[in-house]
Amino acid sequence: MKENWNDIDQFAKNSIKGAGSKIIDSFDEVLKIQTKSNVNDLVTNMDKEIEKYFVEKIKDRYPSHRVLGEEGFGDQVEDTDGTVWIIDPIDGTMNFVHQQRNFAISIGIFHEGIGILGYIYDVVADELYHAYRGHGAYLNEERLSQLKEVPVEEAILSINATWLIPNKKIDHEQFASLVKRVRGTRSYGSAAIELAYIAAGRLDGYLTMRLSPWDFAGGKVLIEEVGGTITDLKGNNLSLVENSPVFAGNPAVHSEVLKKYLK
Ligand code: IPD
Ligand code: CA
Ligand code: CA
Ligand code: CA
Repeated sequence: MKENWNDIDQFAKNSIKGAGSKIIDSFDEVLKIQTKSNVNDLVTNMDKEIEKYFVEKIKDRYPSHRVLGEEGFGDQVEDTDGTVWIIDPIDGTMNFVHQQRNFAISIGIFHEGIGILGYIYDVVADELYHAYRGHGAYLNEERLSQLKEVPVEEAILSINATWLIPNKKIDHEQFASLVKRVRGTRSYGSAAIELAYIAAGRLDGYLTMRLSPWDFAGGKVLIEEVGGTITDLKGNNLSLVENSPVFAGNPAVHSEVLKKYLK
């Protein structure tokens, strides 16, 4: 089916802004907090309400589109046929609960497996990152530039402290030498925000052990539109229906780190 991408883009942006207002309004109310896979894996009534809001709106406007959402209110999506919205209603729920900031709404819209539209909305900062494949990426109204080459010595890498815990995915000593070589490291606690920051050139690399498709779908479209690279830790393409470690970055930093520290 032929899609009207400009129409979908406008609808997605309006829906995201509407969801952002609902989240801001919820700050005055008491959150219902539950845990999922472990005591630190939080989910709130707002994660669920926001996902339901998107699913209802999308099904009403575009009945043929499928939705893959973290909280499970969308469809059982096991392939990438047709048009699929991949949604994280609140990415960074722990930050949402503890800090009321540093969380984002993340949406990637894919057609036959190709990322066409991507959105990451940092609600509290009121920063909407958006990209339309082949038509540019923006932070609010400002166009984002193509990523320029950054030497590893001047790179800021986003990693969290789990990299300090011995694990099978990386060579520890090699990784410690990378941390010493870069200009600095950061950790924001929202994969979507870290990916948006890569697209905006605020970070030069982001490495993480395990993400789900809804964590990176919006970011993948944004990053690819500004000439960045996003793969697993071996440099392979990411599956849109499976969990995976993720390495995103400025292309020069990505290629050097992959070659010298991850292979
Ligand atoms: C989490 C955040 C976090 C990442 C976790 C994700 P959620 O998403 O993106 O930064 O380290 O792997 O699960 O659960 O807050 O949407
Ligand atoms: Ca979650
Ligand atoms: Ca997430
Ligand atoms: Ca989430």
